[in-house]
Amino acid sequence: MLLKGLLILLGAHYCYADLSNIIRPCKLNHYKCIGENLAANSYCKVKENGFLPSKYVQESFHYDTPYFNASYIDHNLIIRNQDKCYVSDFFVNTRTGRAVFCMDCPNLDFESDRTMIQHRTCQEDSYYEYHFRGVYPMIRITINLPSATHMDLCSASIFTDVSELPKLHINPKNKPTANYLSKDFSHLYIYERENGHARGPGLAYKFIDSLICDYGCPMPK
Ligand SMILES: *[C@@H]1O[C@H](CO)[C@@H](O)[C@H](O)[C@H]1NC(C)=O
Repeated sequence: MLLKGLLILLGAHYCYADLSNIIRPCKLNHYKCIGENLAANSYCKVKENGFLPSKYVQESFHYDTPYFNASYIDHNLIIRNQDKCYVSDFFVNTRTGRAVFCMDCPNLDFESDRTMIQHRTCQEDSYYEYHFRGVYPMIRITINLPSATHMDLCSASIFTDVSELPKLHINPKNKPTANYLSKDFSHLYIYERENGHARGPGLAYKFIDSLICDYGCPMPK
């Protein structure tokens, strides 16, 4: 009986100690405070009165979806609603020495003239063209900074969770594309994970550089 009580106590103590290693230095909507913390541990320039437009255009963006043996190029990519992203966590773990920055983006909206490139072993690539628009109810981006004392965004690990599948509008630009494009969306969640993996870093850099602290990391193209 005594032993059991002791174990529970030890367990409780451990749990408590673990929680107290987590430090949140800033209110999550206090971007200046977060920027100052990042700047104190890296080379970024704190953004005062930062601005991110509700809509902007990126000339092109190339990404691969290895599972599908395909590559894509978005031309004239219009990104809407990135100004609605917000910081959903920022903490340091004093025990592990790590720092984590998390952002949530509701209703991100992408529109582009898209080229899909289908690869096949020892064959020429096939090209397909369509107009694309997709609205993503929720995309969550988790950034593990290299360490609590070295918060360099450009070498951070960035994980993108497409936590709700998008609503898609796809208009093929020609007959072969219309014939080729799959009407089977049962693997959409795999495609969107690969797609999100490619887009996450650019979205994170744009958001943090514009609103919190400017790192000037090279944008993926
Ligand atoms: C990708 O290519 C490999 C090798 O040709 C093939 O086995 C696989 O089925 C392809 N993947 C898809 C999703 O079509």
